[in-house]
Amino acid sequence: MAVLSFMLISFNLLLSYTKVSAAADTITSSQNLTDGNTLISKNGSFELGFFSPGKSSNRYMGMWYKNIPVQTIVWVANRQKPIKDLSCLLLINSSTGNLVLSQNKNIVWAATLKRKAQNPALQLLDSVNLVLREANDENSENFIWQSFDYPSDTLLPGMKLGKDLRSGLDRRLTSWKNQYDPSAGNLTWPMHVDSYPEPVIRLGSKKLYRNSPWNGVQFNGKPTSDPHPIFDSTYFNNGNEVYYMIFVFNTSKIARMRMNQTTNSLHHLVWLEEKQSWNMMGSLPRDFCDGYGACGPNGNCDMKKVPSCECLGGFKSKSPERWNAFNYSEGCVRNKSLNCKNDGFVKYIGMKVPDTTTSWLNKSMTRNECREECLNNCSCMAYTNSDIRDGGSGCVMWFNDLNDLRVQPDGGEDFYVRVPASELGMESTSFLLLLMILLVHC
Ligand SMILES: *[C@@H]1O[C@H](CO)[C@@H](O)[C@H](O)[C@H]1NC(C)=O
Ligand SMILES: *[C@@H]1O[C@H](CO)[C@@H](O)[C@H](O)[C@H]1NC(C)=O
Ligand SMILES: *[C@@H]1O[C@H](CO)[C@@H](O)[C@H](O)[C@H]1NC(C)=O
Ligand SMILES: *[C@@H]1O[C@H](CO)[C@@H](O)[C@H](O)[C@H]1NC(C)=O
Ligand SMILES: *[C@@H]1O[C@H](CO)[C@@H](O)[C@H](O)[C@H]1NC(C)=O
Ligand SMILES: *[C@@H]1O[C@H](CO)[C@@H](O)[C@H](O)[C@H]1NC(C)=O
Ligand SMILES: *[C@@H]1O[C@H](CO)[C@@H](O)[C@H](O)[C@H]1NC(C)=O
Ligand SMILES: *[C@@H]1O[C@H](CO)[C@@H](O)[C@H](O)[C@H]1NC(C)=O
Ligand SMILES: *[C@@H]1O[C@H](CO)[C@@H](O)[C@H](O)[C@H]1NC(C)=O
Ligand SMILES: *[C@@H]1O[C@H](CO)[C@@H](O)[C@H](O)[C@H]1NC(C)=O
Repeated sequence: MAVLSFMLISFNLLLSYTKVSAAADTITSSQNLTDGNTLISKNGSFELGFFSPGKSSNRYMGMWYKNIPVQTIVWVANRQKPIKDLSCLLLINSSTGNLVLSQNKNIVWAATLKRKAQNPALQLLDSVNLVLREANDENSENFIWQSFDYPSDTLLPGMKLGKDLRSGLDRRLTSWKNQYDPSAGNLTWPMHVDSYPEPVIRLGSKKLYRNSPWNGVQFNGKPTSDPHPIFDSTYFNNGNEVYYMIFVFNTSKIARMRMNQTTNSLHHLVWLEEKQSWNMMGSLPRDFCDGYGACGPNGNCDMKKVPSCECLGGFKSKSPERWNAFNYSEGCVRNKSLNCKNDGFVKYIGMKVPDTTTSWLNKSMTRNECREECLNNCSCMAYTNSDIRDGGSGCVMWFNDLNDLRVQPDGGEDFYVRVPASELGMESTSFLLLLMILLVHC
């Protein structure tokens, strides 16, 4: 009898040990995680637990890099609702099956489940995805909930930034208010799924920077000049799901993107093992021309020119006085209205294409069909191929004002702006004149 109770006690001790074991990556509905204890992903790269950001005394449940000495939080559960003491628990409620942060039976935070699990397990994966699944089912298709679907302010390799058009799930980054307060700031990075999708960084409802659409090879406005890239981005769109993703070329490199409301920008960060610190490899927006609509409607921004703003061919500044005082907000208007019958196009080379909000896309049309289609529709202002591979295919047309164009010699593409035939006529006249002058001189 005594032996049996001893064994029972040891067994209980063992159980309570596994409950708080620092090496576990999983909890089940009979276990819970208290403040001070953590889950660690299998290969030891990430940790889940409670933390206080910087000088704040508030407690949050979150995830961070296990092997990096600088506290680097990549995800937070209860961003909007801090915990004021150490009494909170993370658990899977055995009657509801839900994943909750619970304080004296009050729910501080709860996951939004797709369905109720029979035998749930919560696991922190090496990819830093926290997943709730059936204990015996590791298939990612069947996850009941995953933190990857609810990003905080950080994008890590393998995470999707974008929309699931079937379920409406919108995976976007949202900045912290400041470095001590993870509650949602007003800097966000959603995927805009207009006809020709593109990720856009926004401050509140104002657009700050467009990554510009995917042209089959890369994001159209992205400069390709970095000779030693550590990570790059990719894009996926099958009509059901549209997303942006980053990947590292060498998986032993640690990289992330993070929204920063203090600087109103998105930082690209890489961990430098030798310096034991994060290095900022890049930041968006980068320069004046990256700023959304820097030159106003129908303006074109070129960092190589002084001043950087000029009107597109066939356009003039709407308010020359303000324009000359470097206020470009009103942009440009047509010199001469389109007559819709005999219009033509001015070709621009190496361009970041305009905001796609008012665009129209057909992936199977050729460039010539695109040109014809644009000419046949009086409100079509510009067109280009939607995919630049193999000499170009697909058709994007823009209507009304052209917003947020810039010259991007190393990442941009050909772009055709509609002008009245007379503007062309003028060009050919001056060309003839030049030819005559040359002939006269020879
Ligand atoms: C959390 O686990 C402890 C033992 O580790 C247990 O005593 C307690 O009842 C659990 N709390 C809840 C709310 O499940
Ligand atoms: C689990 O959920 C039920 C129903 O909401 C609730 O009554 C119970 O207190 C919860 N248990 C814990 C441990 O939070
Ligand atoms: C752990 O696994 C992740 C995802 O597979 C990988 O990116 C990372 O390099 C691994 N870390 C270590 C220390 O093995
Ligand atoms: C934002 O960037 C600034 C300057 O690089 C940095 O000092 C600050 O810690 C960053 N804030 C957050 C929340 O990371
Ligand atoms: C963003 O939020 C800060 C404080 O959270 C506020 O002061 C600022 O006005 C907001 N900006 C915009 C554009 O909403
Ligand atoms: C990846 O990086 C590690 C550590 O910096 C290095 O040892 C390794 O050679 C790299 N692998 C490749 C394929 O470049
Ligand atoms: C448009 O008008 C401006 C100002 O009137 C003029 O300088 C410019 O040459 C005109 N451009 C074209 C293409 O006609
Ligand atoms: C630029 O002009 C607009 C009106 O066109 C005005 O609202 C805005 O305040 C001006 N910006 C600056 C910086 O003066
Ligand atoms: C796209 O263009 C192709 C070829 O011109 C045409 O057959 C098709 O109907 C168009 N699709 C749409 C949605 O307009
Ligand atoms: C021109 O295109 C717009 C946008 O697709 C469409 O709403 C409009 O009906 C078209 N007009 C003509 C005349 O085809």
